[in-house]
Amino acid sequence: MKEPIRVAITGGAGQIGYSLLFRLANGETFGVDQPVILQILEIPQAVEALRGVVMELRDCAYPLLQDIIASDDEKVVFNDANWAILVGGKPRGPGMERADVIRDNAPIFVAQGKAINDYAADDIRVLVVANPCNTNALIAMNSAPDVPADRWMAMTRLDQNRAVAQLADKAGVQPAAVSHMAIWGNHSPTMLPDFEHAQIGGQPVTSVIDDRAWLEGDFVEKVQQRGKEVIDARGKSSAASAANAVVDHIRSMVQPTEGTWFSAAIYADGNPYGLPGGLFSSFPLRMMGSGYEVVSGLELSDYARRKIGTSIEELQEEREAVADLLK
Ligand code: NAD
Ligand code: LMR
Repeated sequence: MKEPIRVAITGGAGQIGYSLLFRLANGETFGVDQPVILQILEIPQAVEALRGVVMELRDCAYPLLQDIIASDDEKVVFNDANWAILVGGKPRGPGMERADVIRDNAPIFVAQGKAINDYAADDIRVLVVANPCNTNALIAMNSAPDVPADRWMAMTRLDQNRAVAQLADKAGVQPAAVSHMAIWGNHSPTMLPDFEHAQIGGQPVTSVIDDRAWLEGDFVEKVQQRGKEVIDARGKSSAASAANAVVDHIRSMVQPTEGTWFSAAIYADGNPYGLPGGLFSSFPLRMMGSGYEVVSGLELSDYARRKIGTSIEELQEEREAVADLLK
């Protein structure tokens, strides 16, 4: 049996937490031979609700779940953590954009970044889910000078999955037939779901779906606005699909499949594709051994460069809005 890994999750009593924790414990995320210790953070007002979630986790009697630590103390939760999944924060409601919660959520990521810096294991990997996730990741990373930049990511896997689902539906194929689906930019309505490099059954999407107007119009807009569409219908932001995307993201990192891409926002400081750095922007990635690399050599059309440029401008504006929290 392998040594257990310590997985810190924030916002464990929330909607995403309730869909996610069980899937982190049952072997499907980290592997069926990987024991886990869950270390769960909540704010004091939600500790009682979290106690109920912990009871349910115990009641599953998962063979791989070696221990559960639940606390409102960041030192306890991030102590020796190998993974940190930062979900805790205020979600947007109807009529709001993700960036509207920026000043409410930003201070959380200063404190959690510091705690990760001071208490997490040397091999810590962090996935930021709470919105606006790209800029929250930037804030947390800036508060953690000892943790290398390549350990931090913000989640755009839900956007990737949404794009795959839309393309599969349009082409009348199963989602598994869609591959090479990259998301570029911010997790926001400016992101680009890159249909120009995606494939269906190994063929370019643009040749299988011979409808450029739909691809540039309804498809891109549907993916960009899907979070809002779910909020408008449910009254709450997407949760089970977000938790599912966390599972997919981590699996891409720890159980990589040869040849496939996945998308996540990374600290793009080496200016991949000549794009401005100093912020978290989404790229197509490939997991290589223990580290990832940005998929290189893709031709970006003028259309794609224009779209990605708009998204990066938005990220620069978000960074301005929290400049006082960045060292
Ligand atoms: P929720 O309100 O149901 O749960 C959030 C939980 O976080 C609550 O239990 C709250 O008590 C807790 N929390 C708040 N501040 C905290 C702190 N400082 N430390 C620890 N816990 C804290 O919200 P949710 O639906 O689970 O969504 C969580 C976040 O994920 C939101 O910001 C939402 O916008 C975001 N989200 C991101 C994506 C994505 O694709 N990146 C998708 C869906 C949701
Ligand atoms: C989503 O994409 O569903 C989440 O980021 C929640 C939101 O506010 O849209």
